[in-house]
Amino acid sequence: KSLKIGMIPADGIGREVLPGAKAAIQALGSSIPTTEFIDLQAGFECFQKTGTALPDETVEVLKNECDCALFGAVSSPSRKVFGYSSPIVALRKKMDLYANIRPVSSVAPIPNEQPTIDLVVVRENTECLYIKEETQTVGERGIETRATRLITEYASRRIGEMAFKIALTRPRKHVTIIHKSNVLSVTDGLFRETVRGVPTLPGMNGKYDGVTVAEQLVDSAVYRLFREPHIYDVMVAPNLYGDIISDAAAALVGSLGLVPSVNAGDSFVMGEPVHGSAPDIAGKDIANPLAAIRSAALMLRQFGYGNGAARIESAVDDVIREGRYLTPDLGGKSSTSEVVSQVVKRI
Ligand code: NAI
Ligand code: MG
Repeated sequence: KSLKIGMIPADGIGREVLPGAKAAIQALGSSIPTTEFIDLQAGFECFQKTGTALPDETVEVLKNECDCALFGAVSSPSRKVFGYSSPIVALRKKMDLYANIRPVSSVAPIPNEQPTIDLVVVRENTECLYIKEETQTVGERGIETRATRLITEYASRRIGEMAFKIALTRPRKHVTIIHKSNVLSVTDGLFRETVRGVPTLPGMNGKYDGVTVAEQLVDSAVYRLFREPHIYDVMVAPNLYGDIISDAAAALVGSLGLVPSVNAGDSFVMGEPVHGSAPDIAGKDIANPLAAIRSAALMLRQFGYGNGAARIESAVDDVIREGRYLTPDLGGKSSTSEVVSQVVKRI
């Protein structure tokens, strides 16, 4: 049986880094099943051309034909554009990809890198403020806006279970729950209590006995992340905090261009670099492709091809350690395509 991978480059550097991910998978040759790549549309440019940022066809092909997918990055405007809505946020919801798993680790001494980071942010991916229920009214003091923040026991429990499961696979087996329940005692309070309660749920039978649990308010969590990043192993967080913390953690390992993620559900997985479409460097062939390539590896591992994933990951690590072929974000002079061909060579 062949492995069908939906490819959604979307906008900006998403289009420049996704071919690198494809090349890395192809370089594995016959050590994984024959792969078939299916190109799919989404993104802001797609919206401008067709009136929708996420065509139904894309979702249908993903659901009915693909085993997994890779997403590049989308350029979402900061102003409200009538009829537009972020396709990545919608895809996560439509495919029920409830966990966004973002490993951040230091590999080699490179500029701006803290040497002792090996953590994974497990971000809830379907609710919080990202349900995008915003309203605007005019009151006595002028325009008033409101946003609804949804935190459910159901979603908190399954992201909590995911965090504990991941912790079990890691040497330190330590989970830190990120929240702000000193202020948001109802919503974040539910998140915190529910995640804490995962090990004692019926049927767990001591499965997570070896996992230690701590918690940290989100603001001081960012402070400690910068001061003593080694204290963290698995950080589990509601959607918005998880989004912010993972970009912050990316700064500690040298570049957003290094940090991969997967959006995982119970029956589908979509790899995606943590970074956005980077309009400031788009079109110059200098985007770092390593986050996208690592996302391909994570996707393969989640899908059961751990050996293939490890080969891609060690090729990436070797290129970083050697330091000869790096893009400008890491202080190098290489182009996107040069870095890709060096990774492919090592695979
Ligand atoms: P960004 O992540 O695109 O860029 C932030 C900074 O990091 C920029 O200076 C950029 O040049 C640099 N950078 C990011 N990826 C890089 C790479 N692979 N190699 C080298 N440098 C890299 O975030 P920004 O600028 O805030 O957002 C730009 C657009 O991306 C926005 O429209 C935003 O909505 C969208 N975005 C999309 C995401 C997604 O598709 N999942 C995630 C985050 C932002
Ligand atoms: Mg982000």
